[in-house]
Amino acid sequence: MTRITVETDPRGARYDVSIGHGTLTELITELSRIRPTKTVAVIDRRIAEVHAVTLNRSLPRETLDEAFLIDGSESSKSTEMLIALWEYFARQRLDRRSVIINIGGGVVTDLGGLAASTYMRGVPFIQVPTTLLAQVDASIGGKTGINFGGVKNLIGTVTQPSAVVVDLMLLNSLPEREFRSGFAEIVKHGMIVDRSLAERLASRDCRDWNTSDLDAIVLRSIEIKKEVVQKDPFEGGHRKILNFGHTFGHAIESDALKSEDALLHGEAIAIGMLAEGQLAHEAGMLPAAELDLLRSTIWKSGVMPPVVPTFNPARIRELVLKDKKNTHARVKWSLITAVGTARYDVELDSALLDKILDTAPVWLARS
Ligand code: GLY
Repeated sequence: MTRITVETDPRGARYDVSIGHGTLTELITELSRIRPTKTVAVIDRRIAEVHAVTLNRSLPRETLDEAFLIDGSESSKSTEMLIALWEYFARQRLDRRSVIINIGGGVVTDLGGLAASTYMRGVPFIQVPTTLLAQVDASIGGKTGINFGGVKNLIGTVTQPSAVVVDLMLLNSLPEREFRSGFAEIVKHGMIVDRSLAERLASRDCRDWNTSDLDAIVLRSIEIKKEVVQKDPFEGGHRKILNFGHTFGHAIESDALKSEDALLHGEAIAIGMLAEGQLAHEAGMLPAAELDLLRSTIWKSGVMPPVVPTFNPARIRELVLKDKKNTHARVKWSLITAVGTARYDVELDSALLDKILDTAPVWLARS
């Protein structure tokens, strides 16, 4: 097992991310170390069913018997579910020395983290991410949230967990499409800070890595996330580089929510990286050879969705203009200037976005 320590507070607050195969059973050890007044668990219903035996070995009997099970779909990131969790915590008579364990993908860690960080002004919580996307991204760095008014993650906090437990064994039961979606965030990590990782990822389809190579790739990706959030925990500047692909990506993800071809988050980010790479190129910031490397990495690693939904340019423009990262009514892009180097708060002429929207079939073509 590998431990990565995240230090987000200059006064010394820190937490460990434990990574390995079978780390879920470490929870029992962690709990006996913390000795909380009460332990409750918020668990993705699918995980509770598929991993019942492992969970039995990892959590106290009473915690498992009384766990709050939720549906891991995006619609669970709602005010209704947030209130349901607060009510559950009240029924369980939690106090500020209790511990909440969130076990699931990004939906569960975002929602459970928000409920924990707001109940009694904050009850300690442990994140146990069960999808690749949550393991390399959502569970690390303390972002919590729910969707509101049709906008993703509009309500949320930045509250660091007490610990993160990453069990790589859980990836074996992950549906393939979800695996590819999570891998898109790994590709993004390479694109923004680690050229050699990006070049490596361009060498094959993400399903073709053997276990030890995949473990090393996941570990490197978690290290990158840690390095970025540690420098700038509250996203005052540097952390914004993690938003590469996300302005366009969130717009297309929100737009697709209404269509039959709903996109997984990482799939939308893969399209978003293609769009924003093209945008950076049109703006004269990204040389053609670098754009080619970005494009071939996205296609060869196999992170594009099986079907790219058709989108309405006017609607995407409207969503981009409403992006919550914007300030002073200006779109603030996070773009790459080369593979492995990123810039944030980039303002561009709006005609460039129009051009990208008008030429989508060209830059969406497989390379
Ligand atoms: N998912 C981007 C961040 O944590 O900042």
